[in-house]
Amino acid sequence: SGHILLPLLFFSFTTLLKAHHSQGPGHILCLFINNQWQDAASGKTFPTINPATGEVICQIAEADEADVDKAVKVARDAFRLGSPWRRMDASHRGLLLYRLADAIERDAAYLAELETLDNGKPYAVSYTVDLPNVVKFVVVFRYYAGWADKWEGKTIPIDGDYFCYTRHEPIGVCGQIIPWNFPLLMQAWKLGPALATGNTVVMKVAEQTPLTALYVASLIKEVGFPEGVVNILAGMGPSAGAAIARHMDVDKVAFTGSTEVGHLIQQASGSSNLKKVTLELGGKSPNIILSDANMEDAVEQSHFALFFNQGQCCCAGSRTYVQADIYDEFVERSVERAKRRVVGNPFDLKTEQGPQVDQEQFNKILGYISSGKREGAKLMCGGGVAADRGYFIQPTVFGDVEDNMTIAREEIFGPVMQILKFKTLEEVVTRANDTKYGLAAAVFTKDIDKANYVSNGLRAGTIWINCYDVFGAQAPFGGYKASGNGRELGEYGLDNYTEIKTVITRNKPFI
Ligand SMILES: *[C@@H]1O[C@H](CO)[C@@H](O)[C@H](O)[C@H]1NC(C)=O
Ligand SMILES: *[C@@H]1O[C@H](CO)[C@@H](O)[C@H](O)[C@H]1NC(C)=O
Ligand SMILES: *[C@@H]1O[C@H](CO)[C@@H](O)[C@H](O)[C@H]1NC(C)=O
Repeated sequence: SGHILLPLLFFSFTTLLKAHHSQGPGHILCLFINNQWQDAASGKTFPTINPATGEVICQIAEADEADVDKAVKVARDAFRLGSPWRRMDASHRGLLLYRLADAIERDAAYLAELETLDNGKPYAVSYTVDLPNVVKFVVVFRYYAGWADKWEGKTIPIDGDYFCYTRHEPIGVCGQIIPWNFPLLMQAWKLGPALATGNTVVMKVAEQTPLTALYVASLIKEVGFPEGVVNILAGMGPSAGAAIARHMDVDKVAFTGSTEVGHLIQQASGSSNLKKVTLELGGKSPNIILSDANMEDAVEQSHFALFFNQGQCCCAGSRTYVQADIYDEFVERSVERAKRRVVGNPFDLKTEQGPQVDQEQFNKILGYISSGKREGAKLMCGGGVAADRGYFIQPTVFGDVEDNMTIAREEIFGPVMQILKFKTLEEVVTRANDTKYGLAAAVFTKDIDKANYVSNGLRAGTIWINCYDVFGAQAPFGGYKASGNGRELGEYGLDNYTEIKTVITRNKPFI
């Protein structure tokens, strides 16, 4: 066992694939605990799969409860008062985050290759065509690096002869459980605010996509984070994830994933130590196209809103509501656009859509497509498997979708677009609102009053007007209703990694 990623660092992509091939699928990547690479206590491993081929890339050490215990212990020790991390100047914490961002940027091409290999997302999207996309998570680290020594408390004029101030203190040991759809980005969203505010971290990465996170672990060590501050484990939700969620010595858990698992995490907190819980969960986000919208732009943006990242976005615009007088033209153009979508080898620079992440998601999406047909939606294009190996699905568009159909209510997490028809603004806001989710929404219109009406009326954490999937490290993101708890990114994101301590000193009057 060992860390096979390091020697691969400077290889080109072909060399990378060859190296993987020649090293074979027997190689094991370890857990990162206390700045050391360690085997799982149980000795267990699991394979990580290339979703474009279904082949094994390598083996990963599989963490379970014993490894979580070990990681929590060292994270607790790294957090003890007087430890190097607790004594470190806030500005130096910021410096380490800047250095981490620099190291990630230095190795961005390699990380993008690993991400494509393990997750299946098109390399063109993760690196060349849209460089800012891959650097987005670097921006998150730099943004929070800047905050490290600027997260100030207050002095408060309470009544009486007292001096009152607040300290912004870290919460402690933070369990962070991240998903497979944006492995690098989600790691940055979680580590940035947690480390800027001085917490220590036990992170569980998704079993589908552990490679980039483990590589970033090597950079965390390289740039000089003290032992035990960041620990990164790959493992399964029901074992490693659950062990974090119910651990008595974890002070906070942050989870991004399904609403179903969000319920379990919240319950585990309630039945253990009431650790703080922040959740970023599912969505069924409405994307509302009014008849005055720029048609060409609305079609392209709505296509992007749904199909981006193989449809594997929690905030995907997965209910496209189109006003009746432009409905037919919109559907026709959307179908034409979906048919033009290039599906294939994610390393081919022409590819817009790679494979779904694994067999389970692939089967689930095909199941939703069947339910759409069964419940009477009109299949306009796609609907089937797109290649004879790997987990590729044809870009699929359903028209005449009704609000009560399964494909209009449940999160599909795949390249399947639902188009629904509406007449009035009041009607569409009520229908768009009629969901347990509230992550995001969008409206396309040239009329500012209509845009405001919709954005004020919808109960969702982010509203896009004439755009979609626009994020900034500086702007908070999170859900209303069953889409989550708390906010990530921006200044608001710091709150959820901070305990506020009120300190009151008696001032003895001189006279
Ligand atoms: C949706 O509602 C309509 C009208 O009430 C009903 O005819 C139809 O069967 C329902 N469809 C589903 C999938 O529940
Ligand atoms: C949206 O739904 C919520 C209930 O989930 C309701 O309180 C609110 O009034 C609705 N807004 C509009 C504009 O329909
Ligand atoms: C997140 O932080 C805000 C601001 O302190 C707080 O009101 C909210 O309760 C926190 N949410 C969670 C889930 O911890």
